[in-house]
Amino acid sequence: MTADKATAKTLRALGVNDARGVAEKFAEVRALFDAQAHQSMDRQNWETLRQFWVGRKSGVLTAIAENWLKPAETELKRVVGEELNKFKAHLEKTLEERRMAIESGEEEAVLARECVDLSLPGVIHPIGSHHLIRQVFQEIEDIFFSIGFSVVEGPEIETPYYNFEALNIPEFHPVRDDMDTFYIELPKGAPTPLLLRTHTSPMQIRTMQKQKPPVRVIVPGKVYRRDNPDATHSFMFHQVEGLAVDTDISFCDFTGTIEYFVKQFFGASVKTRFRPSYFPFTEPSVEFDVSCIFCGGSGTAAGGGVCSKCKGAGWIELFGAGMVDPAVYGFVNYDAKKVSGFAFGMGIDRLAMLRYGIDDIQIFFQNDVRFLKQFP
Ligand code: FA5
Repeated sequence: MTADKATAKTLRALGVNDARGVAEKFAEVRALFDAQAHQSMDRQNWETLRQFWVGRKSGVLTAIAENWLKPAETELKRVVGEELNKFKAHLEKTLEERRMAIESGEEEAVLARECVDLSLPGVIHPIGSHHLIRQVFQEIEDIFFSIGFSVVEGPEIETPYYNFEALNIPEFHPVRDDMDTFYIELPKGAPTPLLLRTHTSPMQIRTMQKQKPPVRVIVPGKVYRRDNPDATHSFMFHQVEGLAVDTDISFCDFTGTIEYFVKQFFGASVKTRFRPSYFPFTEPSVEFDVSCIFCGGSGTAAGGGVCSKCKGAGWIELFGAGMVDPAVYGFVNYDAKKVSGFAFGMGIDRLAMLRYGIDDIQIFFQNDVRFLKQFP
């Protein structure tokens, strides 16, 4: 017998006509319920069980009330009512017990899944550190902060105007050949070509356009050139530009500032020198050299023979610099008769190589942790 079939009929139709028969019928459906309740293992079966037995519209309990109780003979009504109440109480109690058992079982399963074994050794996540180039940037920034410079940054994608023309490098000037560079493919009709900046010098122009003298800024950043990679060249490298413009800046201020920086960065014993050079945006222009920090300026390696780093010269070229060419002031609406200033552009990767005795620039970009770990 299934419970829904039995309870779809009246007691009379089931052949029940006394209290014993009523008790037997209730015992049968109760046994059926108990067997099903025993099998309900999860929330879904439990809900099906509940609907089947106590669901308001079509549950077995409602069917019993409708088909057994309502049409029962008067003398059996009380017994059926009592049995029905007992059965209802049994259903509710059992369903509640099953629900709690299912929930606590699920909870235990979740706890077992999420259990943390505190006795296991922990996972150690290594803590990173700043890349050596970033550390060198910070050191340079600190030195220049201490003498009144501030830091500005600018776009790595530039227009030829800022990268060349406003720096007094007109189109077809031979100096552009050295900086033959990466242009960006743009849709037809773009208002201006764009390129990856070849030096940080465009920020001289952008800074002077934005502010009136006095100007004292340094500009750290990435630059790009179509140079073949070797031990001292990379197609992407780092520069720090420096610019100071005021009403009375002399060549002495320039040399004093540069020498101060170099002695702070490399140590007081390093010797410095300026050599004449050429940049279209400085006049006069210089290259700045330091005595070779590897051989102490002697040109001879520690074990004898020629120092491989300075090739026996005793000097290493550090960077280009000079007094700002008056022609540049014309591009930023400064009065060249009233202002003067100096600018420099250092290759940071090469400075870091010298300072830390690194003989291949490529190692900065390979991210080999054995190298990086040496500079925590
Ligand atoms: C310039 O880039 C000028 N803008 C510097 C300057 C600024 C002069 C302000 C005057 C006034 P130069 O091309 O020499 O100059 O580059 C400057 C430094 O960048 C070099 O001394 C060198 O240290 C570094 N450098 C140049 N090319 C590379 C390269 N391919 N890889 C790594 N470092 C490089």
